[in-house]
Amino acid sequence: MTAQRADRQTRLRIGLMGLGRIGSLVAGELAAADDMDLCWAVRRTGDGDARPSGLAPEVAVTTAAEWSPGFLREHPVDVVIDFSHASAARHYPMLAQAGCRIVSAISHYGPEAQPFLAAAARHAAVLHSPNITLGINFVLVASRLMQRLAPHADIEVVEEHFRGQPETSGTALKLAQALGLDPTRQVNSIRVGGIVGRHEVIFGLPNQTIRLTHESISGKAFGQGAMFAARWLAAQRPGRYTMEEAVRSTFAATLADDLAAATPAPGGGRVRWSSAA
Ligand SMILES: NC(=O)c1ccc[n+]([C@@H]2O[C@H](COP(=O)([O-])OP(=O)(O)OC[C@H]3O[C@@H](n4cnc5c(N)ncnc54)[C@H](OP(=O)(O)O)[C@@H]3O)[C@@H](O)[C@H]2O)c1
Repeated sequence: MTAQRADRQTRLRIGLMGLGRIGSLVAGELAAADDMDLCWAVRRTGDGDARPSGLAPEVAVTTAAEWSPGFLREHPVDVVIDFSHASAARHYPMLAQAGCRIVSAISHYGPEAQPFLAAAARHAAVLHSPNITLGINFVLVASRLMQRLAPHADIEVVEEHFRGQPETSGTALKLAQALGLDPTRQVNSIRVGGIVGRHEVIFGLPNQTIRLTHESISGKAFGQGAMFAARWLAAQRPGRYTMEEAVRSTFAATLADDLAAATPAPGGGRVRWSSAA
């Protein structure tokens, strides 16, 4: 352990569900974290020896069938990060009763998963985010703030993805919904080449344009987002949370610190960005 690494008592113990395409990247990010220990990972059927290269020998790997309250007692964790499959939500009540907070990055849950999420949230803090990158949630929170500052701004959302992506990005639709835009007129899709994912919110103001852009470069960003969520969730009471709430409250705390440090302007008061676009 290096001098910068957090004290053992303050380090978060993490369990990871899913060691597939994204889960393996997340495991790599967790291994590099200064304030977290990946204690175990669970797969659906993968045999016990099938470990992603780079997974430390002390990380226990098990399967959904062998997973039990006994395993959790033997390998206690503070937060479970889920990059497995919607069907794994049935394990959430057991995890919550064992004292684990849950960060779920599952892209979509059907109605059958909802009772499991609700039952878990009665015992522990549960955060579900279908897009868990910090950047896109920052764009969401910052866009809403920008819209409040400039209520008459002309706004469009542009999303770009690889040629093969068939439908409009769910993230773009979420941005449009959060900003009260018409998804059929104000969300513009571009399909070209191998773009991983790019979302842009454009604010047209009288004499200038403001653009908030997020670009995905690597799936590792999902791991960094999940780790941010885990740190935030560690201080929350039982209940359901979203990534937007985690980012918004961090945003607000940072802004409050910034304001406290700044010298107040003479007269103070709120200034509108513009009266009309
Ligand atoms: N929120 C976000 O921003 C975000 C971003 C990317 C992906 N995702 C979501 O993350 C999930 C994983 O994506 P992926 O591309 O990594 O999928 P993947 O490559 O198919 O990997 C899925 C992993 O989950 C395991 N698994 C499946 N069912 C399970 C169960 N019931 N219990 C425990 N483990 C189980 C699999 O086990 P085996 O190894 O034994 O097959 C595998 O390791 C998907 O839901 C995806 O939509 C979310």
